[in-house]
Amino acid sequence: MYKLRELERKDLQIINTWRNDPELIQYLGAPYRFINMDVDNQFYDGYMASRNTTVRCAIVTDKSDVILGLITLANVNYLNQTAVLHIMIGDKENHGKGIGTFAVSTMVAHAFYNMNLRRVELNVLTSNERAIHVYEKVGFKREGLKRKAVYKNGEFVDMYSYAVLKEEFTGINELVNIESAADTASL
Ligand SMILES: CC(C)(COP(=O)(O)OP(=O)(O)OC[C@H]1O[C@@H](n2cnc3c(N)ncnc32)[C@H](O)[C@@H]1OP(=O)(O)O)[C@@H](O)C(=O)NCCC(=O)NCCS
Repeated sequence: MYKLRELERKDLQIINTWRNDPELIQYLGAPYRFINMDVDNQFYDGYMASRNTTVRCAIVTDKSDVILGLITLANVNYLNQTAVLHIMIGDKENHGKGIGTFAVSTMVAHAFYNMNLRRVELNVLTSNERAIHVYEKVGFKREGLKRKAVYKNGEFVDMYSYAVLKEEFTGINELVNIESAADTASL
């Protein structure tokens, strides 16, 4: 029903509307900024130049190539076999439909079974209960509390750090068809 494919330049127009949406940005650790298309074109050029340490995928449906969300493995480190996960699904009408669970479990499977990583990490605002639920369902474990880590909406707020190790990744059997995971973007 849903699939991942590598991010393309044509996706930037939609991503730019998401990145300018304060309602969506409130869930992220990053601050709200006004972002024009030149910035997003540079963001894409930066990705093309750092593709050996970053995997950026659009979340789309089988039937339509229109981007529903963006999921990223950043800071890929082949010595430590680690990466950092980021995800956002753009329209709030698409939240709560299972898209995030699919995308997170598929990208983590890609990290472990295609890229030979062994640990995927992330940070999440302590208030983001929906995201925390998805991460824990896929097998992420809470490792720490980062107190007053980021400035959001006029105050400093806490974040949790989470990680999942390859040997404790539970999502693969229940949530992901490993063959379709292997079809997703690779380096
Ligand atoms: C977080 C996000 C990726 C999750 O994806 P999603 O497609 O909405 O999530 P899913 O539909 O796969 O799953 C949502 C789960 O959270 C549960 N949930 C929803 N609201 C919840 C809440 N307030 N508290 C706890 N669980 C909640 C749902 O019941 C569902 O669990 P279930 O499948 O076990 O019933 C998506 O909502 C999103 O992009 N949000 C905005 C950006 C963001 O928060 N990014 C993450 C930053 S770390």
